[in-house]
Amino acid sequence: MPVADEPFSLVIFGASGDLTRRKLMPALWSLYAARTLPEPFAIIATARRDFGPDEFRRRMREAIGEFARVQPPSEHVWERFAAALSYVAGDPTDAALYPKLERALRAIEAARASRPNRLYYCATPPSLYDDIIANLGASGLARGSAGGVTRIIVEKPFGRDYESARALDRQLAAAFREEQIYRIDHYLGKETVQNILVLRFANGIFEPLWNRNHVAEIQITVAESLGVETRGAYYEEAGALRDMVQNHLLQLLCLIAMEPPVSFDAAPVRDEKNKVMRAIRPVDARRVPEVALRGQYGPGFVDGRPVPGYRQEQGVAPDSKTETYAALRLIVDNWRWAGVPFYLRTGKRLKKRVSEIAIRFHRTPHMIFRRSPAGVEANTLVIRIQPDEGMALTVAAKTPGPDLKLGPVRLDFHYGEVFGGEPPEAYERLLLDAIHGDATLYARGDWVEHAWQALGPVLEAWAEDPAVGLFPYEAGSWGPADADAFIARDGGAWRAP
Ligand code: NDP
Ligand code: BG6
Repeated sequence: MPVADEPFSLVIFGASGDLTRRKLMPALWSLYAARTLPEPFAIIATARRDFGPDEFRRRMREAIGEFARVQPPSEHVWERFAAALSYVAGDPTDAALYPKLERALRAIEAARASRPNRLYYCATPPSLYDDIIANLGASGLARGSAGGVTRIIVEKPFGRDYESARALDRQLAAAFREEQIYRIDHYLGKETVQNILVLRFANGIFEPLWNRNHVAEIQITVAESLGVETRGAYYEEAGALRDMVQNHLLQLLCLIAMEPPVSFDAAPVRDEKNKVMRAIRPVDARRVPEVALRGQYGPGFVDGRPVPGYRQEQGVAPDSKTETYAALRLIVDNWRWAGVPFYLRTGKRLKKRVSEIAIRFHRTPHMIFRRSPAGVEANTLVIRIQPDEGMALTVAAKTPGPDLKLGPVRLDFHYGEVFGGEPPEAYERLLLDAIHGDATLYARGDWVEHAWQALGPVLEAWAEDPAVGLFPYEAGSWGPADADAFIARDGGAWRAP
């Protein structure tokens, strides 16, 4: 049942962390500033650190100054938002925290005439989700309060592997009904990611070309210039494959590779994405280095500033084997994509922050401009997820002049120029959807399990096989030199975004 525009209370576990500061609170503030957050609302933040409520509000004010796309027009408006923030210190693994949370919720709900709607948000390192869910179940908080709607949002990565994801599902199922569970993957809330389906299925010109007959190769890049910042402890238990590939990059692959759903509704869209996951060719455990490569950043320079290597970061073991870079070559074994390689790569402390999908088409079967073949590149459609959201298609054109010379030109569309301003943050859309009870842009449990299955042999080889290399790269570069050799084996090269 949708909460629609009814009041709600949101409890954030892990609220002293990076996600809350960088994404959740700026998104909640921006929704409030745009008057789209249902009112009255309450946000109960909880973590072990013993901030008083005033100190927590001060930190959140700072976070909004740094990360929100909308700034408070006056301190008075900020104070109105801040009045809805409270902080309950406690360890989420300790059952004693939950009666305190319940008292805080009841006090807020008693002061309202409306239904007691509740959302719980797991924003801690994933190893704590089991305890949080068990405690929500045992304390009765999962059941919620009579007459209200209760939901739980679980951050990625959902589990560490196939088995643990299934165990987490079972544990969730013991405390919550499936329709109460929201598995978040914030890439699905990005405007440019939602636009992939619009581009493909609201335009007649792409679908006839969107297959092995015309597409030679697809590259999906999610590069970050940031390091692990304050998140060493979390990242040590995750690594690039679990942190980014198992969720964000595989979701992008599905949106590019899926068949048209019958309608843009949760069930048909999710069904088609699952079919893609089932079509991914299983990785042969004995040949992992042929399909996957990992790296770890050393010291270097980013934006002209010296930065430490991964092993020197706070919370990271000096001999850590955790990968901060991952590259994969996947094959989608179905009629549409047979033989088209999908290259995926992601890394921290790379040269610049850029997420894009590049679809390279076959060259022309015959070149009639034999005297000036230079300058003709294969047509490539680049979907820029961020920053500089937009898309570009490269085509060959005659360059002006008496000679017949050819060169590539870009037909380029920039969101900012056409629609003005910055697109809303993914978390704005997704938080609002969870408040309203719309799970279309959330990941389904069976998709998550397929994703772990697809990566299982790579995770195992990287954890257990000392012969599989961990290639170093300099912070501020495009990743390990070996990644170039990895793609060159097929005769290809990474795009320079
Ligand atoms: P953090 O490392 O910042 O951890 C969040 C909080 O969890 C910490 O502030 C800490 O609070 C608490 N915590 C950590 N370890 C323990 C422990 N052993 N016992 C109890 N509490 C603990 O992580 P992030 O905020 O970066 O990430 C949280 C989740 O959000 C992850 O699943 C991540 O994948 C996901 N995510 C993060 C994004 C980001 O940009 N940061 C973006 C998208 C998803 P305290 O010590 O005060 O208890
Ligand atoms: C998160 C990862 O899921 O996505 C982070 O945990 C990463 O490590 C972040 O920095 C990237 O998100 P965005 O929206 O900045 O591309």
